[in-house]
Amino acid sequence: KSLVSLNTFGIAARAEQFAVLHDRAQIPDLIAACQAHGGAFFLGGGSNILLTRDVPGLTVQVALRGIQIDRSSEEGIRVTAAAGENWHAFVMALLEQDVPGLENLALIPGTVGAAPIQNIGAYGLEVCERIESVEVLDWQTGVISHMSAQACHFAYRESVFKRHPGQWLVLSVTFLCPHPAQWQGITSYRELADALKPSAEEGAAVSARQIADAVIAIRSRKLPDPRLIGNAGSFFKNPVVSPHERAALLDIYPNLVNYPQADGSFKLAAGWLIDQCGWKGRQEGAAAVHANQALVLINRGGASGADIMALAQAIQADVHDRFGVTLEPEPVFV
Ligand code: EPU
Repeated sequence: KSLVSLNTFGIAARAEQFAVLHDRAQIPDLIAACQAHGGAFFLGGGSNILLTRDVPGLTVQVALRGIQIDRSSEEGIRVTAAAGENWHAFVMALLEQDVPGLENLALIPGTVGAAPIQNIGAYGLEVCERIESVEVLDWQTGVISHMSAQACHFAYRESVFKRHPGQWLVLSVTFLCPHPAQWQGITSYRELADALKPSAEEGAAVSARQIADAVIAIRSRKLPDPRLIGNAGSFFKNPVVSPHERAALLDIYPNLVNYPQADGSFKLAAGWLIDQCGWKGRQEGAAAVHANQALVLINRGGASGADIMALAQAIQADVHDRFGVTLEPEPVFV
């Protein structure tokens, strides 16, 4: 089975065996199939993977659907969504139902089930801040359990799921969203605050819908639409450095884009580092660096996983030579 339309990079790799999980009634058969193959590659929206070769064994696409909203608790609105729901459609559906809380994460590609794996985050919010638990299947034991957010060990673009690929299959995610009366918009991210200024100046408080609209506008301007241009969003994580390293870099590069972190370290804008090395918009065969955002690598058509990796390695080498900083890829390499 060709996976070309099932990964947003548009890499033409193939799966040796392929199955779609539509219905929870298929789970016993799925466990048996996983055990027979010694595991499986679980595929969501395919928006945070780089396929570097054909996938041996079994690939399972998770297509479970369903959203439940429970307003009965004072703690907040509890929302459980099946792993196969499209993330952006889910965020929009919640806003339609007057459930705020995920609006900063509008237009992120992928599925609900993939969101906890890399702890998606944007414009001042990480999804772990809204996750209460994650329902997982351990295919080796066949046991289905609910892992608390704490047990997921979330960190910046990290989780226990990303560190142990293939061990669990995410079946559903339960979010705790604020009741509208308790909701407070997160609008401190510079670019978002700027985009919201016209609405804010009218005096009225900014609504969750307005935040979603602003995020959608910013993302559409800077990030390539994966339906048109193959990509997996940011290709590198923003590196975190010590105060000492930051100070040394600032001496040489006074314009260094950096953000203080709660633990005293500093996050650097990898896009800025790559941009400074002159990579923005550059092409290497079928792989290229996006012209509006240096952090995004794109497939110009027909690129292989190896083409993308070669470009990524050239960028890593340049950034390391110039700034002494190691860029870590963000997508999962398969
Ligand atoms: N910058 C440049 N040149 C570039 C790109 C960025 O100079 O080509 C500088 C600019 O100064 C800009 C700063 O870097 O102000 C930060 O850029 P931006 O606000 O676009 O954010 P980012 O650090 O590039 C991160 C996330 C994105 C997320 C945005 C908004 C990571 C790896 N990426 O990008 O997430 O949407 O912040 O919160 O943390 C993703 O993970 O796939 C993703 C798109």
